[in-house]
Amino acid sequence: MRKIHVIGIGAGDPDHLTLQAVKAFGDTDVFFILGKGEEKVDLVALRRGMLDAHRPDGAYRVVEARDPERDRKAGGADYSPAVDDWRGRRADIYERLIAEELRAEETGAFLVWGDPALYDSTIGILEEVLARGSVEFDYAVVPGISSVSALAARHRTGLNRVARPVQITTGRRLADEGFPDGVDDVVVMLDARQAFGRFADRDDAGIYEIYWGAYIGTPDEILVSGPLAEAAPRIERLRAEARARKGWIMDTYLLRRRGDG
Ligand SMILES: C[S@@+](CC[C@H](N)C(=O)[O-])C[C@H]1O[C@@H](n2cnc3c(N)ncnc32)[C@H](O)[C@@H]1O
Repeated sequence: MRKIHVIGIGAGDPDHLTLQAVKAFGDTDVFFILGKGEEKVDLVALRRGMLDAHRPDGAYRVVEARDPERDRKAGGADYSPAVDDWRGRRADIYERLIAEELRAEETGAFLVWGDPALYDSTIGILEEVLARGSVEFDYAVVPGISSVSALAARHRTGLNRVARPVQITTGRRLADEGFPDGVDDVVVMLDARQAFGRFADRDDAGIYEIYWGAYIGTPDEILVSGPLAEAAPRIERLRAEARARKGWIMDTYLLRRRGDG
């Protein structure tokens, strides 16, 4: 039976790698590295650097593949036919990689950004490949340091306040649905629209604080925190400059509503 590790590699800092991840590196024969778009070159180089550091024996193979882009223009809902189609195309690629690049009795690894449990579809795709029944394998997941953990650590803050909930959501949802009910701490990922901006212009803007980070854990890291009305224009400027300089950006933030909590 083929074996697969789904390894969370942390959010950009090679020191995020856990001992469990390094052990899993140690018994892997084939590393699958998937990337897309402009960020691909940088993020693939980072993964390869990790392999150089932790597998000096070099006794492994690396298979790189291009992750298909999602058609973000097709439909506003997070779950749309465009998402199903994208997942299907990804499953085709994973199925082919496992069937053609991993011999029986070998162990493969997918190196997943951050933690595989957070806004990542690797686990879902492997389940889909298994359900198709054309290739058999067993897999295990190694948790990683997520960008959310890294963000909180770099800002030296907690995500929740005492005995209160915290919600993790997407920029699209925050923009479309507003600040969620019942929580005062919201972590926002995958935000191409800078959805925080709409809270900065409101009459009650004074009750919001933001803890923002881009390229967290990498040499390009940028951090900004403070009252939203003051921080928002600065973040917008820094974000635009960084995006123009590097061609891509990854940012995450905690939006905190000051109230009784
Ligand atoms: C597809 S999700 C993957 C999340 C990943 N599984 C994790 O645990 O962080 C990509 C989003 O994660 C966030 N992200 C990932 N790495 C980041 C980093 N180094 N700095 C800031 N945000 C990051 C951004 O919001 C980005 O849009």
